[in-house]
Amino acid sequence: MNHYAILERKRSGDELRPEEVAEVVRGAADGSWDDAELAAFLMAVAIRGASAAETRELTLAMLDSGERWRLAERVPGVVDKHSTGGVGDKVSLILGPLLAACDVPVAMLTGRALGHTGGTADKLETIPGLRLDLDLDRCVGLLRDCRLAIGVATAEIAPADRRLYALRDRTGTVTSIPLVVGSILSKKLATGAAALALDVKTGDGALFADIERSRQLARMLVDTCTALGVPAAAVLSDMSQPLGEWAGHACEVMESLQCLEGGGDPRLVALTLALCEVACALAGHGVGRERLERALHDGSARETFLRWARAQGAESAWTDEPRLELAPVESVVVAPRGGVLATVRTRDLGMLVQETSRDRSDRVDAGVSLRCCARLGDRVARGQELARLYLRAEDPLLVERCRACFVVGDTGEAPPLVAERLAPAAR
Ligand code: URA
Repeated sequence: MNHYAILERKRSGDELRPEEVAEVVRGAADGSWDDAELAAFLMAVAIRGASAAETRELTLAMLDSGERWRLAERVPGVVDKHSTGGVGDKVSLILGPLLAACDVPVAMLTGRALGHTGGTADKLETIPGLRLDLDLDRCVGLLRDCRLAIGVATAEIAPADRRLYALRDRTGTVTSIPLVVGSILSKKLATGAAALALDVKTGDGALFADIERSRQLARMLVDTCTALGVPAAAVLSDMSQPLGEWAGHACEVMESLQCLEGGGDPRLVALTLALCEVACALAGHGVGRERLERALHDGSARETFLRWARAQGAESAWTDEPRLELAPVESVVVAPRGGVLATVRTRDLGMLVQETSRDRSDRVDAGVSLRCCARLGDRVARGQELARLYLRAEDPLLVERCRACFVVGDTGEAPPLVAERLAPAAR
C-alpha cells in the first residue's frame, strides 16, 4: 500500500479505511514504515482527530501486533481494571486482593511510572522477592490458585505501541485522545479479560486536568472496548489532590494493607469499592458492597494479598510481618497562614516524588515518601502541619518546592470524588 497516499488522505481529514490503519500499525511493528512517515501519521491524527471506527481499527491493529492471552477462555469471568494514572493512586493494590477474596478472578498487567504518575509495578517491587514477570501459563496458574495475578507487560505485548509511544513522546502528540486510547487499550486488552473497569482521572494530577478532555477520553475508552466486544465502564474520579494519605513506593503498599484490613483513607476506600462494583456488574459477578466490605473487615482481603504476594515470590519474612522503613530525614511542611487548603499542585507533587525516589541509576528508593496531612477544603491554622517528606538527606530547596504545592486561601473545597460514571452507550 502506498504510504504517501495514506498520509495525504489523513492529512486532508478523510476517514481511513480499516486496511489503511492496519497498514500503518503493521509498518510500526515490522519497520516497513520509517520514523518520518509514522511521525507524520501521528501528527495528522493529533490535528485531525480520528473517528470511532478509525480508533477501533487502530486499537485492534496495535493489539494484534503482539501476543493475545484470551484469559477469559481459560478463567471465565476474569476482570481487569485500568487507571489513567495519578499521584498516590494505589487502587489496584487494594482492588485486586479485595475482589479475589470475594472469589472474583482479577488479572492485571500494570505499568511503570510515567511522568509525574507513579507505577503500580514499581510500588509492588518494593516487596522483597516479589516478581512481576508473568507469562500466560503462570498467570492462569495464579488465577486458579489465588484468584489474582499481577504482572508487567512483556515485550511480546503490543510491540507497535512501544515504537509509536516513543515517537509520540518526540513529536508533541502524547495528548491526542485517539492515540492515548489505542496505546492504553492495546496493552490492556491483550490479556483478554471478560470485563474492564476504567478509572479515568481528572484534575491537576491527571493525564488531562480539565473535565471535558477527561470525559472525552473516558467516553472513547468505553466505546472502543465495547466495539471490540469487551464490556467496559468508566468512573471519572478526582485527581486534584493525591489519593489517600501517602505517595511514594513502599509507603503506598503499606497504606494499601491498612485499607485491606478495614482502615485507611475513606476516599481511597470509597473509590476502590466503586470500581470493584463496576467490575463485578460488568462481568456478572453477584458481589455487592456488603460482601466487599465484609472482606475488608474480616481479614480475608488482607490475607489474600499476602497469600498472592507469596505466590509471586515475596519473602515469607516480609509477608509474615509486612513492614516499611521510611527514609530517615523527616521534614514537616506547615501552613504559612490560617485559612482553608484551597489548592494542591498535585502534578508538581507527583514530579517531586518521582524525581526524589530514584537514584542516579534510576533505581527506586522504596523509603522516600510524602505524607499528606491536610485535604482540600480543610480549615488550617497558621503553622499547622500540611505534609511530611521523608528523604535520604536534608534538602531545604526540595522542602520549599513541596511547601509551594500547598496553597492556603480563604475558601476552597474538595471536588466530588467521583464526578461521573460512564456506561457503554445504548445501541
Ligand atoms: N498510558 C499509556 O500507556 N499510553 C498513553 O498514551 C497514555 C497513558
